[in-house]
Amino acid sequence: MKKNKQIQEWAAIWREGRTIFIIDQTKLPFNLEIVELRSYIETANAIRDMLLRGAGTIGVAAGYAMAQAFAEYSTIKELEKAKLYIESSRPTAQNLFYATNRVYEEARNAENSDKKAFETADQILHEDEKHSRIMGELGAELVKDGFRILTHCNAGKLAIQGWGSALAPVYVAHKQGKNIFVYADETRPRLQGAQLTAWELHQAGIPHAIIADNAAGYYMLQKKIDIVFVGADRIARSGDVGNKIGTYEKAVLAKENGVPFYVVAPCSTIDFSCTCGADIPIEVRSPDEIKKTGNMLIANPESDAFNPAFDVTPARYITGIITEKGIHKPEDIHTLQ
Ligand code: MRU
Repeated sequence: MKKNKQIQEWAAIWREGRTIFIIDQTKLPFNLEIVELRSYIETANAIRDMLLRGAGTIGVAAGYAMAQAFAEYSTIKELEKAKLYIESSRPTAQNLFYATNRVYEEARNAENSDKKAFETADQILHEDEKHSRIMGELGAELVKDGFRILTHCNAGKLAIQGWGSALAPVYVAHKQGKNIFVYADETRPRLQGAQLTAWELHQAGIPHAIIADNAAGYYMLQKKIDIVFVGADRIARSGDVGNKIGTYEKAVLAKENGVPFYVVAPCSTIDFSCTCGADIPIEVRSPDEIKKTGNMLIANPESDAFNPAFDVTPARYITGIITEKGIHKPEDIHTLQ
């Protein structure tokens, strides 16, 4: 069921009883539509179909989907089947697996398991909010008055509760009254930067412009970018970072041009079982996302297209990783376990 709603203070995801409410991110920036998800299948399918996206929001939704499964089923066999279904929705965001495992482990032996499952999922959401605010405060200390900031994809309030991850320092610096400007990479092929980051920054009144994905080097060479903030979908023990396709090339350009490059992500995004970036699973999506805009073909119909949704930035290109526990050298990230 869908309804239109105008909201000033907004969140990407929340729950009322056993129903999960989300902003349908596929409709932004043109329409603000709220979707109700009433079963674990509906919630898992919303993750798969990217009605919601961004590692943090995916994690919270997955936690709620697991809780809905506890409300729907009672046998371990049924719950494990539901867990696998939720986990098959998107492969890269570590927060998804963090949330399903945590809700499952904490609820399965509880006396009132579905109540415990929803409480645990709520807790994940509230921890994300808290961690986002801490990361925002830490990151904002790196932002000087007059800074021009580059970000890639959408790592804002739509992607993780609170103030987002990469956008958290931006929100805080703006609230502190610093004069800042944000370059938002458009982020082909799904345009999370042009559609979602730009929408968020506009809502917050933060000066910004959308740039083509291949324009960042041009601006760096002109000394028009002072710092880069990106989010992460999965961080390996080595400090290598999986994030939206195109992040790697921004990091290499930043190093070449002497621009500090920071990754902002909560500890729930670190996968301590991943030794290095090569272990991070990369989602490959439909060639249609490259070849079409909506239903309109924009490429030679007979050609194939390759569409990896994420890439891995080696630790050596990353100046620092900001978590709720501090600002770390990438090679030290394994010490957080
Ligand atoms: O495919 P998406 O839109 O889910 O990808 C999102 C990103 O790559 C974000 O940068 C990442 O999730 C970090 S934001 C918490």
